[in-house]
Amino acid sequence: MKNKIGLGLIGCGLRGTGYFTTLRYKDFNFQVVALADVSERNLKSANAKYADNTAKMYKTGDELVKDSSVDAVIVATPNKFHRDPAIAVMNSGFPMLLEKPIATSLEDLTAIWSSSQQSQAKVVVGFTLRYTPFYQTIKNIIQKGVLGQILTINAEEMMSDRLSMIFCRSQWRHDCNLTGGLLLEKCCHDVDILNWISDSKAVKVSSFANRSFLTPGKVPKRSCDKCPEKKICRFSREKLLSSFYDNVTETKTDLNHLYSELINNECPYHIGTPYPDHQSLLISYENGVLCTFNVIQAQPANRRTIHILGSEARLYGVIDDNCFTIFHRTGPNNEKPEVIRVDCDSYGHNGGDPVLATDFIDLINGKQNPSRPGIKEGIESAIICLIGDKSAETRQSIELTEYRNQVFADTNISRSAVIAKPLAVN
Ligand SMILES: NC(=O)c1ccc[n+]([C@@H]2O[C@H](COP(=O)([O-])OP(=O)(O)OC[C@H]3O[C@@H](n4cnc5c(N)ncnc54)[C@H](O)[C@@H]3O)[C@@H](O)[C@H]2O)c1
Repeated sequence: MKNKIGLGLIGCGLRGTGYFTTLRYKDFNFQVVALADVSERNLKSANAKYADNTAKMYKTGDELVKDSSVDAVIVATPNKFHRDPAIAVMNSGFPMLLEKPIATSLEDLTAIWSSSQQSQAKVVVGFTLRYTPFYQTIKNIIQKGVLGQILTINAEEMMSDRLSMIFCRSQWRHDCNLTGGLLLEKCCHDVDILNWISDSKAVKVSSFANRSFLTPGKVPKRSCDKCPEKKICRFSREKLLSSFYDNVTETKTDLNHLYSELINNECPYHIGTPYPDHQSLLISYENGVLCTFNVIQAQPANRRTIHILGSEARLYGVIDDNCFTIFHRTGPNNEKPEVIRVDCDSYGHNGGDPVLATDFIDLINGKQNPSRPGIKEGIESAIICLIGDKSAETRQSIELTEYRNQVFADTNISRSAVIAKPLAVN
């Protein structure tokens, strides 16, 4: 390997280029040598900002992987467009950081799995929550047996007004055919954490999904900027966009364009999006662990909570507080709390992004990491999310074995594709 790692990026948007900022923050010795994107504007902007205009620019991943200056590749295209670049990178033998969710249909998962097996590619999936000190500390505590046998895990993801609006009003996220659905786009991280902590294979899922708050009828249909209620509406685009400027150093003019792409002018009460505004998922694992997970939009803040109940003790924590409490058993009807504060870099996703970026460099350098999520972990999480949505749609609990077999084993039979499609909300 050369002195400097030559990085290629396919999908030069916020997340992809964000890795360059994180790698710089961690002082890694790399050079951005190749960029691929369907948007010429994003290509040029990334080239100017991260490569002093020295990187080669391509329209597709297929072209980028032929570039001889590339040592490793990050794939951060919108979810539906992960498959082709991911397969091109794996077939070319480059180590890859592949963004979550790794694909939006069982067919794409199957193709990615098959290519990963043939190429034996080195891959890390962007499950940044796994890399947070919060969940890593919890995982260590469980591995030490402090909670005893894990029986249930209850977790929750609250999405703030701003995040909810980015979700239902941004350029591609408003389209569930491109995201794969609320569970897959927003919660495949959380499902990966449940898989990781329960340390078992999910066997059955059940889900309910409703859209009962962001519904037409509350306000007349108007475009957001022209709405007479915009001064008082918590979803006012103007208000939400201005809230972006609190913590950024770049000029408003630079960011104005970018942010206006994130929140469009549609009234959230009238958007035709089929996303639920709240959804519950129940997962049953082979080892007996039962998990419940709720995701709720339009909340006052972004927060993730977890409550793990074991045979010897329980643990409750909120990642956004970087703190959790273990309730130790002290008698037949008593428990004693022990508060644990997690030392965490405040940078990106509760400190997960710098650790993930470091693990990508470790992957490139051939270092092992038993906790590293790869293609298999990406698939396990995606299957649960996709079939979870199918359960909400059909109102039935669904066994996962058949779907897992389709993806991991029987790659040649024609299969009933569970393609991302509008979820019929209750
Ligand atoms: N791990 C995390 O915490 C995390 C956080 C944010 C986003 N993501 C994931 O990162 C990915 C990108 O999200 P984003 O927020 O950066 O979106 P974005 O819209 O900011 O960037 C996507 C980029 O991909 C480009 N693009 C679209 N289709 C393409 C194609 N076929 N080939 C090449 N380029 C193409 C777009 O022009 C754009 O520049 C998504 O999969 C998302 O789920 C992960």
